[in-house]
Amino acid sequence: MTKILVLHGPNLNLLGMRERTIYGHATLETIDQELMAAAGAEDEIRTFQSNHEGVLIDEIHRAREWADGLLMNPGAFTHYSYAIRDAVAGIAVPTVEVHLSNVHSREEFRHRSVIAPVCVGQISGFGWRSYLLGLQGLLAYLAENRAE
Ligand code: DQA
Repeated sequence: MTKILVLHGPNLNLLGMRERTIYGHATLETIDQELMAAAGAEDEIRTFQSNHEGVLIDEIHRAREWADGLLMNPGAFTHYSYAIRDAVAGIAVPTVEVHLSNVHSREEFRHRSVIAPVCVGQISGFGWRSYLLGLQGLLAYLAENRAE
C-alpha cells in the first residue's frame, strides 16, 4: 500500500470561482475525487487544504510519520516560503510540486520556485490534470525507489 498526502496551499479552496481563465472550472473537491479515483485500490490518498503557512508545515511534519509521498500545490508560497522548503527537505518524504497554471508563462515572480529544488520534480500548466500527472509521476518514482 502506498500512502500519499495531497496538500493544497492558499486560495486553492476558491478553485472553480477564482480567476477561471487561469485556473479553470474544476473545484478542489473535484480534483480530490479525481485523485482518489486515479489511485490504485491499495493506495491511500489523504487531502488537506490550508491558507496558513504554519498549518501546512505542521501537516508536512505529520506526513513524516505515515506518508510515502507528498503531492503539493503550495500556491503563492511556492515563490517565497523557505519555511515550507525546509519542512519538505527535513522530512525526506519524496515530494512532487504541481501547479494548475504554467507558472513560467506568467508574471516573473512566479517563475521561481524555492520549493522545487527539494522535490523530485515539478508539473505545471495542465490545469487540474497537473495533479493527476504529478500523482502518476510520484507513484512511479516511489515504486522504482522502494527498498527491496
Ligand atoms: C498556482 C500558481 C501560483 O503562482 C499561484 O500563486 C497559485 C496557484 C497554480 O496552481 O497555478 O495560487 O500554484
